Amino acid sequence: MTVEEIKDLEDSAFREIGPAQNPEDLERLRVKYLGRKGALTGILRSLGGLAPEIRRIIGQEANRAKEALETALDEALRSLKDAARLAEPPATDVTLPGRRLTRGRLHPLNRIMAEVCDIFLHLGFEAVEGPEVELDWYNFEALNLPPDHPARDMQDTFYFNDQVLLRTHTSPMQIRTMEVRQPPVRIIAPGKVYRRDSDITHSPMFHQVEGLLVDKGVTFADLKGVLTAFVHQMFGPEVGVRFRPSYFPFTEPSAEVDIECVMCGGRGCRVCQATGWLEVLGSGMVHPAVFEAVGYDPETYTGFAFGLGIERIAMLKYGVDDIRLFFDNDLRFLRQF
Ligand code: FA5
Repeated sequence: MTVEEIKDLEDSAFREIGPAQNPEDLERLRVKYLGRKGALTGILRSLGGLAPEIRRIIGQEANRAKEALETALDEALRSLKDAARLAEPPATDVTLPGRRLTRGRLHPLNRIMAEVCDIFLHLGFEAVEGPEVELDWYNFEALNLPPDHPARDMQDTFYFNDQVLLRTHTSPMQIRTMEVRQPPVRIIAPGKVYRRDSDITHSPMFHQVEGLLVDKGVTFADLKGVLTAFVHQMFGPEVGVRFRPSYFPFTEPSAEVDIECVMCGGRGCRVCQATGWLEVLGSGMVHPAVFEAVGYDPETYTGFAFGLGIERIAMLKYGVDDIRLFFDNDLRFLRQF
């Protein structure tokens, strides 16, 4: 055993430690050189058989080599661990610029819907909801629109079969409510309705709010009072309102309510089709045939009903001249509200 041999052993150990790629390689080298049966351990163990002065020199050299190897292995292990840590993505990069949180808002139609309902709730009406897929009985027949009635033509819709259709208005909720309640009744019924309609003021899917008030002694003056109060709350007390005689099979007399076109101030434009007025709702005194269909006595009770279009009101309130803008989902449009 010579000092050179120990140095050679140390050199070859260093050559192996250098390129080690992972902790397992380093552990293998530790065992190979410093383990119980390791090369350096063997040398240290065999010192006993050497002459004392040689033993001192060889022993010193072997111990120095052992310490050097231990230090080199520890450092190699530490730098492998550091490298692994650096390679991991940081949990939080505090130098990144913050992400802006965009605030959502209600769709303009939902806002108007809430506003309309709020006005009627404050007038003492209660909100009820019903199905969009409706039976012919509720949508037409019980509303005094028997099969083949010509007024059905104005409300063509999607039919699932002869009896089942997408409701064309919220009026079926009048029947559904009166079937299960006795007067006095004072409800509104907001919801989606569907028709075979499409132009700048008509959409195939739109929203209505139905209203129904039934009690003893209800008159057309009550209808006018409630609907005028509604228009004035919605558009301001100075806006012109007119009740125009109309026809609905389920009301008699019937009236459509127009408000002054806010787009042109009543002078006439493309939105109001040059009339200066825009229709916002249909209304009338509940027809006796409807009371009979639900088992109310028309001699005892009277009432009024109305159905208003949310899109129309939104168009007038916000000055929107094409109904389709509400459904295009163009954020440049929607962000204005
Ligand atoms: C009706 O739907 C009746 N059920 C209203 C009613 C209820 C009358 C109770 C009497 C008693 P009308 O088809 O006119 O009526 O529609 C009512 C309102 O819905 C209209 O004034 C209009 O504002 C709106 N509307 C109708 N069709 C469309 C459409 N295709 N797109 C957007 N709004 C519409």
